[in-house]
Amino acid sequence: MTAAEAGTDGVRAIEAEAVPTRFARGWHCLGLSERFKDGRPHTVNAFGQKLVIFQSGDGRLNVLDAYCRHMGADLSQGTIKGDEIACPFHDWRWGGDGRCKQIPYSRRVPLRARTSAWTTMDQDGLLFVWNDPEGNPPPPEVTIPRIEGATSDEWTTWVWKEIVVDTNCREVVDNIVDMAHFFYVHYSFPTYFKNIFEGPVATQIMKGVGRPDARPPAKNGEPQMRGNTSVASYHGPSFMIDDLTYHYDDMDLHSVLINAHYPIDANSFVLHSGIIVRRSDKLPAGAADAMAVKLGDFILRGFDQDVQIWKHKTRIDNPLLCEEDGPVYQLRRWYEQFYVDVADVRPEMVERFEFELDTTRPTEVWKQEVEANLARRAAESRTP
Ligand code: FES
Ligand SMILES: [Fe+2]
Repeated sequence: MTAAEAGTDGVRAIEAEAVPTRFARGWHCLGLSERFKDGRPHTVNAFGQKLVIFQSGDGRLNVLDAYCRHMGADLSQGTIKGDEIACPFHDWRWGGDGRCKQIPYSRRVPLRARTSAWTTMDQDGLLFVWNDPEGNPPPPEVTIPRIEGATSDEWTTWVWKEIVVDTNCREVVDNIVDMAHFFYVHYSFPTYFKNIFEGPVATQIMKGVGRPDARPPAKNGEPQMRGNTSVASYHGPSFMIDDLTYHYDDMDLHSVLINAHYPIDANSFVLHSGIIVRRSDKLPAGAADAMAVKLGDFILRGFDQDVQIWKHKTRIDNPLLCEEDGPVYQLRRWYEQFYVDVADVRPEMVERFEFELDTTRPTEVWKQEVEANLARRAAESRTP
């Protein structure tokens, strides 16, 4: 019996169309720009292609299709010569604008010797590329906002991590509206949850309390984490900036968390997490750095928890939702704007939409669950 046949007798059928063959229009972060500034070309597999990234003599980072238009060699195996990338096969020289600038053994460069070049942006220590299946440049109003702390001495430097995830990247975007999984998968305890979608920005506002059952009891005198406030926005399809504050007994710890990804192909993506922490009297330089490293590891563990789910789940276009779930369908309508031509973006994909979840029931039930876990832990520690 197929899933569709099952649907006829009242059993809910899971529906899923094939994953899209095009990749989202928008800015995608390829990671810390420093990484690409070591004098060597780099290979990046993204948008179903192989790309070469190289820093030209003028300091700019350039992104080209990796395959040389001469005889198809891989430019990312070549060398940087001045402002150009030199192909390892016959030394043709390609500029960051995609044009062949010279062929040392030839009198002339053939007409129309041009390969595809991506628009790049090097901002706040991060390298971005603009992907547009229609081939248009980024409109000026479609930007990634500046992250103030990224260039300030009052903040730590980036603690940056990357992992490869073998599924379609819609799974990670779904997290924006998924409050309940934060309790069950990430062992946090949301008490307030709201989404706002507008234009190319999707926001999640979440407040939570500590989960004493999810970590070892605090030692005497150790500051207790009381809760957190998170305001996280996707700017476009793949780059989320999260103003994340942890509330302790005696201080607030301010951090900016980046959750970003770029598709390798339709069934895999690279997931990035980056974090910076604000230094303060209570958290001077060394302590803030240590805290950033600790939070970086913590966030990576959070990604692993999601990955465990994604690895085994199926794609589902028609999730069966209850009242305490977030607006998955509206979120996906918002996300759709990046997969259609600009001319086909419909008002309902970009109109302002707000939804605040009623957390009364979940918080009641979760409180009981936490108490039960604590009671069990206490009982276990008493048994010899
Ligand atoms: S294949 Fe690149 S120069 Fe010949
Ligand atoms: Fe998650």
